[in-house]
Amino acid sequence: MKRSPRSIRSRHISRTNENSRFVINGLGGKRALSGEVIIGGAKNAALKLMAASVLFKNKVILENVPEIEDIKRMSDLLNAIGVVVSKKKTGVYDLRVGRRCSTSLLDDISKRFRASIVLSGPLLARFGKVSFPHPGGCLIGERPIDIFLDGFRKMGAQIKESKGRYLFTATGGTLTGTTIHMRQQSVTATETFMMAGVLASGETVIKNASLEPEIEDLAKFLIDGGASITGIGTTTIRICGGGLLTALSPHRVLPDRIEAGSYLILAALAGKDVKITNCNPWHLELLIELLRDSGVGIVVSGDTVTVTGEQGTLKSFDLKTHEYPGFPTDLQAPMTVFLTQTEGEGKVFETIFEGRLGYAEALASMGADIIAMDAHRIIVKGPSSLHGKTLESPDLRAGLAFVIAAIIAKGISIIHNVYNIDRGYDHVEKKLRAIGVDIKRLR
Ligand code: EPU
Repeated sequence: MKRSPRSIRSRHISRTNENSRFVINGLGGKRALSGEVIIGGAKNAALKLMAASVLFKNKVILENVPEIEDIKRMSDLLNAIGVVVSKKKTGVYDLRVGRRCSTSLLDDISKRFRASIVLSGPLLARFGKVSFPHPGGCLIGERPIDIFLDGFRKMGAQIKESKGRYLFTATGGTLTGTTIHMRQQSVTATETFMMAGVLASGETVIKNASLEPEIEDLAKFLIDGGASITGIGTTTIRICGGGLLTALSPHRVLPDRIEAGSYLILAALAGKDVKITNCNPWHLELLIELLRDSGVGIVVSGDTVTVTGEQGTLKSFDLKTHEYPGFPTDLQAPMTVFLTQTEGEGKVFETIFEGRLGYAEALASMGADIIAMDAHRIIVKGPSSLHGKTLESPDLRAGLAFVIAAIIAKGISIIHNVYNIDRGYDHVEKKLRAIGVDIKRLR
C-alpha cells in the first residue's frame, strides 16, 4: 500500500502544541515581578550534541537538555534514521547509533528547523553519504547553505541537487581534511565542519570560525570522547581526524544564554526583585553592561544574575547585532522591546539576518514609536505606553519579544502560534507564572 504523506509524518513527528495561544494580562507599566527563573540547557548546543552522537561507537548520555519542540524534532529525525534516542527523565537523554542507520533525512522533519543541517557533517563523515532537503527554521532571512556546499566540496564530497534535495557523497567513502576558510562566520557551518573533521582523514582547519559558547560546548563533548581539536574560542580551529569516539561519562549541556538574556530583559522592564539562576553570567556580559548603563540595577553572583529594579530613568542606546562576543541577534527583538521603554532614541541595526525586524510593525500596533529605515535598521523612540493586542508569533525570538511586550503592556494580549515560542523556550508559562505573570495557555 502506498503510504499517504500524512501517515509518514505521523509515524515520525511526535505530538506538537501547534494550536496553542497565550493570553496575557499585562502589568500596564508596573514593576511587579519577583522570584526566581531557573535557566535550562542551551537549545543551540543540545541540538548539535544530539547530532554529534553519530560520531560515537557507544551510547552517549546528555543531561540538562531543554524540554522544547526543536529537541523533539531532532529526536524524531534521529529516530527515523536509526539513531535510538531515549528520554530517561526530564532533561536526560540517551542516544545510540543503531545497527542499521539510514543517511537520508526526512523532508518533513528537516524542513522544520535549521539545526537539521548539522547532521550532514557526522553522517557524511561516518557513512560516506547523506541526503537531505534545504533546512527549515525561523523565517528571518534567506539562510542559504553555500558555505556548507563549498566546505564539503573542499573535503572531497561530490554534491548533487535534485528536486529540492541535496545528495553528498564522499569520494572513496571518506572525507579528506583540508583548510576551509569561511567567507563569513557561520555557527552551524563551524559546528558541522568540526564534526565532519573528527572522522576525516588528516587535518581539517576551519578559518574565520565562529566563537559562540555553544561551539565550545560541542568541542568539549567531542574532545572528551577522544577527538583531537585545538583553537576553540579562536577563529582558527584545527581538527585532527581519527576513529569513532567513545563516550566515557554523561555530558551536561551548558546553560542557555539566550533564554537567560530574554528573562533578564523582562526583569529589567518589569521586575522588582527577580533572580535568574543556573546561568553563565560570562556569556551575558555585554547585555548586563548595556542594561546597567541604561539604568537597571543588576547584581551578579556565581551562576545568578539578580535584577533589583531601575535606578532612575532608563536611558536609550544604539544596538548593533554581531557574532559572539558581540550582541546576539537572538536577543535583538527582546532588546527592542526594552528600548520602547527607555528615554530618547535608539537605533537598532540587525547585521546578521535580513528578515529579523519584521516584528516591529506589530510592536508599533501596541503603541511603540518605531520608524523602519530599511530591512536592517529601525529607530525606536521612547518611552511609550504599550497596550494589549492580538498578535501572531512570527518566529521564535520575536515570539518571546511579543510575550515581554504583552507583559509590560496595559490590558489583555493574545499571542497566537505559540509553537514558535515552544520551539526554543522551556516551560515558558510555568517560568513566567512563578515570577507573577498572569499568563494562560489556551489550546
Ligand atoms: N550564511 C550564508 N551561507 C551559509 C550559512 C550562513 O550566507 O551557508 C549567512 C546567514 O544567512 C547569516 C549569516 O551567515 O546571514 C550567519 O548565519 P549562521 O550560519 O551563523 O546562522 P545559523 O548557524 O543558521 C545559528 C543559530 C541561530 C542564530 C545564528 C546566529 C542554530 C540552530 N541557530 O544559526 O539561532 O541566530 O546562529 O547566532 O544554532 C535561534 O535560536 O532562534 C536562531 C535563529
